[in-house]
Amino acid sequence: MSILVTGVAGFIGMHAAAALLARGEVVIGIDNLDDYYDPTLKQARLARLNGLPGFTFLRADIADDGAMDRLALDGVDRILHLAAQAGVRYSLENPRAYVRANIAGHLNLLELARRLEVSHFVYASSSSVYGDAGSGPLAVDAPADRPLSLYAATKRSDELMTECYAHLYGFRATGLRYFTVYGPWGRPDMAPTLFARAMLAGEPIRVFNRGRLARDFTFVEDAVAGTLGALDRTGEGHRIYNIGNGRAEPLMRFIETLEAALGVEARIDFRPMQPGDVLETCADIGEAARHFGYAPRTAIDEGLPRFSSWYRAYYGPDR
Ligand SMILES: NC(=O)c1ccc[n+]([C@@H]2O[C@H](COP(=O)([O-])OP(=O)(O)OC[C@H]3O[C@@H](n4cnc5c(N)ncnc54)[C@H](O)[C@@H]3O)[C@@H](O)[C@H]2O)c1
Repeated sequence: MSILVTGVAGFIGMHAAAALLARGEVVIGIDNLDDYYDPTLKQARLARLNGLPGFTFLRADIADDGAMDRLALDGVDRILHLAAQAGVRYSLENPRAYVRANIAGHLNLLELARRLEVSHFVYASSSSVYGDAGSGPLAVDAPADRPLSLYAATKRSDELMTECYAHLYGFRATGLRYFTVYGPWGRPDMAPTLFARAMLAGEPIRVFNRGRLARDFTFVEDAVAGTLGALDRTGEGHRIYNIGNGRAEPLMRFIETLEAALGVEARIDFRPMQPGDVLETCADIGEAARHFGYAPRTAIDEGLPRFSSWYRAYYGPDR
């Protein structure tokens, strides 16, 4: 029996696949290695997985209906679907990429789950589905019907499509609303890498809403522990969980911690609030804790130094 991991060359996908392989699972990974961000980083992540016992890689586009229908995946018993067009801000520039990967692509994965009669379909949603639902920890049943970006709208659609398929075809399904995941091998379009690059080059970092933003930052190891916990969940039906750290970190404290980790001072270019952005995110992780023992343990004081060491090792000390 094997596990299909989509988006395996991605940030969370690579870490999740590595953790599954480390516990002896057989993993078939899919990715199209698109150039939304530098594919060299995706290739480097894949290189860490290639050669590990139990790993096979298939280059495929999940939005290609014909290719997905032809995939022979006998023996796949569970699906961890992480492939997506990610990024809130880019969804203003290229909305069609989101509908293609996140809606047409998600439907193809649901169809695959149905065809293979998998025992569990786990997929990535996002904290962005909550929109600007307010401050304080957000429970999974908080309103999620006022998305502020098309990215969020596609992720909420994924949840609704999955609800329908789990109901129609009776498979177990789990959606994971990740809250700003960061760490080694992180995405170059997200704050830690954007900030680290600019700070080490002595360039200003762009900080929106004059820094009056707060995010629940989740260290990737915690996010992966939550993902594997969810994958092992035995309850029936379709459930959705928050995967966060459980606290809203003010953006300015995040920047100060990164300054200390990198040993450089940031020059800050304060900008107005960006369209599509939310003021604060904070996860109520109680359900994930109760249902599969989710217990994040990494604060930014530990996570950012670990990110910074990787950043310097990967990009070189001066970049
Ligand atoms: N990182 C975060 O903070 C965060 C937060 C909320 C939700 N998520 C979600 O978690 C998942 C993983 O995110 P990530 O940060 O690892 O992003 P990522 O961009 O690093 O990984 C996604 C991977 O999917 C692949 N992909 C994209 N379109 C594809 C397609 N049509 N066919 C095949 N592969 C395709 C990409 O090449 C990439 O390697 C995504 O669904 C994302 O929306 C991430």
